[in-house]
Amino acid sequence: MKKFSHKDLLGMGQLSVDDIELILDTAESFKEISTRDIKKVPTLRGKSVVHFFYEPSTRTRTSFEMAAKRLSADTVSLSASGSSMVKGETLIDTARNLQAMNPDLIVLRHPSSGAPHLLAKEIKAGIINAGDGTNEHPTQALLDLFTIREKKGRIKGLKIAIIGDISHSRVARSNIIGLTKMGAEVTVSGPPTMIPVGIETLGVNVVCDPVEAVKKKDVVMLLRIQLERQSKVLFPGIREYASFFGLTGEMIKGAKNDVIVMHPGPMNRGVEISSEVADGPYSVILDQVTNGVAVRMALLYFLIGGYKK
Ligand code: CP
Repeated sequence: MKKFSHKDLLGMGQLSVDDIELILDTAESFKEISTRDIKKVPTLRGKSVVHFFYEPSTRTRTSFEMAAKRLSADTVSLSASGSSMVKGETLIDTARNLQAMNPDLIVLRHPSSGAPHLLAKEIKAGIINAGDGTNEHPTQALLDLFTIREKKGRIKGLKIAIIGDISHSRVARSNIIGLTKMGAEVTVSGPPTMIPVGIETLGVNVVCDPVEAVKKKDVVMLLRIQLERQSKVLFPGIREYASFFGLTGEMIKGAKNDVIVMHPGPMNRGVEISSEVADGPYSVILDQVTNGVAVRMALLYFLIGGYKK
């Protein structure tokens, strides 16, 4: 039997192909629980999870809360504005105080890259990285891998385009690591100012023209333009970005007939994606959200209730 032996989930790089397959297989079996009339099993009864979100979130936070509650864990939610960090307490001191209450797991979203890694070294509870700065968002990548496998039956050998602000996207980074590890052929596209120099070393192709990048792809993944993370203006304006890089119904015709279109959310409709595509027949954007709960249930199960190290 495959074994999962990690205390924390900090990034996709730490997971082997076997780990990823185990998480996706387990999520598949947990998915059914969310369709029941009574959406609850006792698996994590008596365990406690702190959701500490130092940045706004709709999907990740709600999804983790639902995942924990569906497994019967006790949950506490803490935001930066509602914590004593506004009075000057440091992240480490905050975490040490949370640890003193003996939670089993802390789910952390933080604007600084590396914040979850720091906590993981400092405290005994498991840490899940729910997005750290521009670094990684591993649970998003896992739910994306799950959705691709569910819709396509495999990941290996698929041709996948990721389009948008690659430089500032933790979703792109985690997906590139995960998808290439699982044997997909990944192409990134976007304005040259938003493609990191040397990204080819991660095993991806770079095609700046989005029309070319989409051609004959099995999966097209869009990214949000992250104006809040850009320290300088990287393109002339939103209208220009939308007219060159926004995915339209016309552009998607170049992809395979059974292409799926993905977006981690939140979407800027009419900027990186047209409403016609976001709400159209190829879109699996809301399936991604549904699958997020199952994938996070699997992660909670492994990190606090599953295999012992
Ligand atoms: N995909 C994602 O991380 O969305 P939220 O910011 O709403 O959590």
